[in-house]
Amino acid sequence: MTPIFDAMTRYIRDNPLAFHTPGHKRGLGAHDLLKEFLTDRGLSAEVSLMEELDDLNSPATCIRDAENLAAEIYGADDAFFSVNGTTGAIQSMMLATLKEFDEVIVARNAHRSIVGGLILTGARPIFINPRIEDGLQLGIDPAEVESIFKSNSKIRAVILVSPTYFGITSDLEKISRIAHDYGSVLLIDEAHGSHLKFSDRLPKSAIESGANFSATSTHKLLGSLTQTSMLLFKNLGGINFNREEIQHAANLIQTTSPNYILLASLDIARQQMFENGSRLWNRAIDLSNHLRDEISKIEGFETFNRNDLDPTKVSIDARRLGLTGIELESILRWDFKIQCELSDPFRALFLITYSDTEDQIEKLLNALRSISRSRKVIDRVNFEIPRLSKIPEQILTPRQAFFSKSKSISIQESIGKISAEEINFYPPGIPILYPGELISREIIDYIREMMQFNIRLVATDPTFQTIKIIQKGDI
Ligand SMILES: Cc1ncc(COP(=O)(O)O)c(C=O)c1O
Repeated sequence: MTPIFDAMTRYIRDNPLAFHTPGHKRGLGAHDLLKEFLTDRGLSAEVSLMEELDDLNSPATCIRDAENLAAEIYGADDAFFSVNGTTGAIQSMMLATLKEFDEVIVARNAHRSIVGGLILTGARPIFINPRIEDGLQLGIDPAEVESIFKSNSKIRAVILVSPTYFGITSDLEKISRIAHDYGSVLLIDEAHGSHLKFSDRLPKSAIESGANFSATSTHKLLGSLTQTSMLLFKNLGGINFNREEIQHAANLIQTTSPNYILLASLDIARQQMFENGSRLWNRAIDLSNHLRDEISKIEGFETFNRNDLDPTKVSIDARRLGLTGIELESILRWDFKIQCELSDPFRALFLITYSDTEDQIEKLLNALRSISRSRKVIDRVNFEIPRLSKIPEQILTPRQAFFSKSKSISIQESIGKISAEEINFYPPGIPILYPGELISREIIDYIREMMQFNIRLVATDPTFQTIKIIQKGDI
């Protein structure tokens, strides 16, 4: 059953004469370059907001049916389709939950989309650091969450990312119990976990673990087109919500003209998981385990496995060959035409999904064997990567900072001033400095040292000669 796809197919077959959007009129007037990409058949499926195709902002027929099927497969009470990526789903759940000056526990390794959510809602973040081991961000400690609640009874929500990009999950069962005991809700950025539900050999999904909301990137790991995600909701504990409130929040940030091919791809991705999800993901897990086993036999390469890891995320560490993860990524890309998901100074990350084959895994292994043969194994290189010892002091909420007057000044002059901008390295897009936080010598040194590893800095001035600060007198 694929309600959106079925409704589109009926409409296309009926083929009414088009005096409506899109301007290319289902491909008739499209440029050849677009036709080359999307084909005549694909463009004819670029339908518009016709009555029989429902309305994403107020779904009642085919979109609602598809969302209900998605909620059912994930064990949620409701699902909301997003064509604004997981960013859209995250900001929707934050807008549904938080208002100005509400206090919210936020994992410091949250994705930048959460900064956007904080600016939109005006909520005041109380940050919590993940534990870090050998450059790897681990889960959030439930005891630390509890101790924040003990000293502050007004917290409305907890927002965490689980799994992390590198596949580490937090103990969400414990954390959800704590949050609910204190009358708070648990919002999970599950951008990297849309597949967890489909095998019991994977960590439990957020919704199964007691989260109220999960923003999940169907496009990252399942088969929907890039840009499409789902917001899942379960009425569990903490504050009560109804579907209308969440829809209202989602409508604030979502287009009124969703592309139906994108929407249908969400529907079809869910159907694919319904038909074959468990078989496909169990195969991906087998392939990942095989990859890990074989990597451990190649001299100079290391990988890891742990109980709280999603095993389909395979991190490869080549430090014993004198290579950073970033250098390993580059060698694989340019010498072997193999592209990983991302890398950091410590390791490179490979995502294994239901689409991978034994042949592809063998090609990767052969490339690693070849790199190992061409290099000398040394004592593990341990990079002097600076660690931020403490979270910067928050002077203004992200929203207050966003709406304050700002100006650019040189980095040297900025110490002790309030940042007006968010700064992160992309990937992974985790903010180092939030708008409203105090700029310190430690932060500046950290950013400069990280830049030496050739990671892309996302800041108003990506060369990091200047930074935007809040103008005095405007606070
Ligand atoms: C942890 C995390 N959350 C949210 C997002 C945002 O997802 P999207 O790009 O679909 O908006 C990303 C994207 O990389 C991410 O890594």
